[in-house]
Amino acid sequence: MTKSADVIVIGAGIIGLSVAWRLAKAGVSVIILEQGQAGAQASGAAAGMLAPLSEADKPGPFVELGIASLRMYPDFVASLKEESGLETECVSPGLLRAALNAEEAEALQTANRWQQATGLKAVLLSGEEARKIEPGLSPDIVVATLSPDEKQYESPRLVRALALACARRGVQIIENAPVTGFQTFGDRVEQVRTLTDVWEGSSVVIAGGAWSKAIGEWLGVNLPVSPIRGQILSLRALPPPIRYTVYSHAGYLVPRPDGRIVVGATAEEAGFDVRPTAGGVAHLLMMAPALVPSLKEAVFDSVWAGLRPATPDRLPILGLLPGWRNVHAACGHFRNGILLAPITGEAVALSILSPDPHPMIEPFRADRFQ
Ligand code: GLY
Repeated sequence: MTKSADVIVIGAGIIGLSVAWRLAKAGVSVIILEQGQAGAQASGAAAGMLAPLSEADKPGPFVELGIASLRMYPDFVASLKEESGLETECVSPGLLRAALNAEEAEALQTANRWQQATGLKAVLLSGEEARKIEPGLSPDIVVATLSPDEKQYESPRLVRALALACARRGVQIIENAPVTGFQTFGDRVEQVRTLTDVWEGSSVVIAGGAWSKAIGEWLGVNLPVSPIRGQILSLRALPPPIRYTVYSHAGYLVPRPDGRIVVGATAEEAGFDVRPTAGGVAHLLMMAPALVPSLKEAVFDSVWAGLRPATPDRLPILGLLPGWRNVHAACGHFRNGILLAPITGEAVALSILSPDPHPMIEPFRADRFQ
């Protein structure tokens, strides 16, 4: 059966939902085609850190994009709460990035110099100073950076709120609807096909996470996104041993308001296999008490894995696809899909709604891979 919408978004992860929500707010009719369940892949698995400084190794367009998105978060979640009725705010005093040896300490000190210039707070602390504000930290931590602006949200809750807000704005989210092909005419995609339906739309957005590459191939465009598995687990400990997110070279600990500590994450090339492994879990269980020794006594809660959508340069792919007049990319967010959701929604919606592209989109175009 042939149906229609102004914009067809492929993928109902946090990125597809964010683009759809932004478009729906502008009065555009949107359909999302999701091969499985909304938010069931990387978005639902993510620890939910908003950490543009900690996730970058140098200044540049990625940090600027991340900071711009971080600054959008307060309005983004306030509007989400209003439209979905769900509270997504996560109370967090910020993030402590810890160094356990001289080499890591030097890297933190070097990074601190460019971090200071970004306008976000990044305070260098001695190990002793860090333990004063977070007494559960290991005595082996020699230096730490405190970033009070780097918060965290519970990502499954964010995704649920976004899906609800989208639905209330009339966005149809069609689950279990993998895309099977396109009907094209010249430099335009006219129809998107699923197993059961044919969708006509004026614009198409590819937000297929780790699965975006195959969609690009149908259009002859290189979207080099591949899956990097992240295994992640949660522990329970009362009283909560940390208040800050603790981030290190080897992994991170994210304290949730319900008393869980999320421990992440491995980074592995394992195709599309999302099964946690003994080695992955062992790594995380060793790493957690190395940062916070009392976690040895924590109770094991659960383990899961997600597939980060990684590009060769680890930067997202945003904006109009080369050679196509109505197909837009919103994929390849690698470790930062949660952080970059608001700015991606804004930038990709603008690329559809306006002749003037978002000013930050240029370094992230798919053209760089053609
Ligand atoms: N953003 C953290 C991770 O991907 O593990």
